[in-house]
Parts: sequence; C-alpha cells; structure tokens
Amino acid sequence: MDKIVFALPGNEQLVNAIVNGLKCEQGKFEFRRFPDEETYIRLESDVNGKEAIVVCTLDRPDNKFLSLYFLAEILKDAGADKITLVSPYLAYMRQDKKFNPGECVTSEHFANLLSGFVDELITVDPHLHRIKSLESIYAIPTKVIQSAPYISKWIKENIKNPILIGPDIESKQWVSEVARDAGAPYTVLLKSRLGDKNVKVSIPHIHKYLGSCTPVIVDDIISTALTMIKTIEHLKEEGAKPLVCIGIHAVFAGNAYNELKQSGAARIVTCNTIVHETNEIKLDAAIIKLLS
Ligand code: R5P
Repeated sequence: MDKIVFALPGNEQLVNAIVNGLKCEQGKFEFRRFPDEETYIRLESDVNGKEAIVVCTLDRPDNKFLSLYFLAEILKDAGADKITLVSPYLAYMRQDKKFNPGECVTSEHFANLLSGFVDELITVDPHLHRIKSLESIYAIPTKVIQSAPYISKWIKENIKNPILIGPDIESKQWVSEVARDAGAPYTVLLKSRLGDKNVKVSIPHIHKYLGSCTPVIVDDIISTALTMIKTIEHLKEEGAKPLVCIGIHAVFAGNAYNELKQSGAARIVTCNTIVHETNEIKLDAAIIKLLS
C-alpha cells in the first residue's frame, strides 16, 4: 500500500526524516485557526487507497487533540485505507488509577478516544507503570520503540565511566537496560510525589563510585524537572560532579528547563520525541524502520 505522511504543526522535522527515509509522498493540507480559535482544515493531497501516516507528538495534548481528530476524519473521508498515528510522546499515561474517589482515570478514556479514530499507534517508551502494556487500554494495534539502545549508545560515545541513577522504581525498566547495554553500574532510588510540585527522592549511596565515575540520571519524562532537581541536590551533597541528566521525553513544563539548568546539571540531554534544544538522541531511524 502506498504511504503518504502528514505533519501536524510542530512535527515537520520528523516528517521530513520519514519522507526521506521511506522515499514516500508528503501529504498536504491547509490548517489554520479562525479568529475565534476554532480549527479550519482542508485536505489537498490524494489519499485514496493509501496508508496515511500522521505524525503528531502529544505533549500538551489538549491543544492538539481536536486537530488530530479532524485530520484523521478528513483522511478517512477521502478514502485513506489505513491511518497510522506516529506519536513519539504519548500523553495521558500518568493518571492510570483512581487515587482519590471521583477522579477520572484519564489514561483509559484517552486511549478509548484515540482508538476510535486511528488504526494503529506507534510511540516511544510510553509511561507504563501500573498499566503493563498499551494493549491493555488501547483497542488498536500498537508498536513501541525502546529508546534504551539509543541512550546507551549516546552514553558510550559521550561519557567516560558513567554510574547511572534512576530516580524512582518505574525508571528501573529504562535504567537497567541502558546500564546493561552501556556496561555501566546503576542504582535506583525511591521517590514519593506529595503533590504536582512536591517530590521527595531517597539519597543515592554511590560513594564508592565518586571520584572515578560521572553520575548520569536517567528518567523517562522530565516535566516539572523536580525529580531530577531533587536527585541532583542529594548528589551534590555527596560531592558528586559533574552531573548529566538524560530524559526520554522533554516535556519541560513552565520554567522547568531553566530551573534544571540552574540546579547544577552539567549536561541535559533528551531524545527527539518532543522537539527541544536538548534533543541530542535521535530516534528517527527506529521510527522509519517500524514504518517500513
Ligand atoms: C514518573 O513517574 C516519571 O517516571 C517521571 O519521574 C516523572 O514524570 C518526572 O516528573 P517531574 O519532572 O515533574 O518530576
């Protein structure tokens, strides 16, 4: 089936890489906002009988979701045979449980909505915690790219004698893999989140590595950056420097990036699942391979 690739605004870099990698057509559509901020969208390409690949990373999802839905609807209306969504950052994976009575388990509802209008989902390291796999909430086929081999490659090429630190128990899944690939030691801390902006992280006991190793904190999402900042505070108290922070998804809410820079991180590196100046680890090749 012929493929045609569409970029929702902000996803042009990855779409260019996919179009070049797959040697396929780039889809065209007019997209603008009316003065009242409603969306106008008009398809300009022929998609009849083709697989339409729509690229839309889903950080800040509430602003993007309707545009994605409208695009998928006009693609189907114009005869696309299959709609594949490439969403390197998949939103609404964190509220996966009712912590308090009356709360909405947004992970499930978001999965239901997306499953209703795309045929396949490709993403990178979704935040799987209490939900063990995407299949348990998504009704469509899903494919997941693991960033661990790309992160360990970056570490091997850039950091001498790393000691990896996962700031919470969920991070063990990435940190242990990255450490194995990079042939480096690792430790995982305990974290309690007491509120959106109140995080406590246990003290990393890495004395024996200090002096000979560079501490590298690895986490999946950097949002408020408090998880990283609190870990850095402990490491600095232990006399560790310089510190490297690696996040898979550069969400960086509000002023988080500046706050992380000011906290003493010597280097902040992310994967290019959300466009950001820290995107040193590119996953384009892995995405193209899955789409081939
Ligand atoms: C949480 O469970 C995740 O793995 C990350 O540790 C978390 O999302 C980081 O959030 P923040 O940057 O707001 O501390």
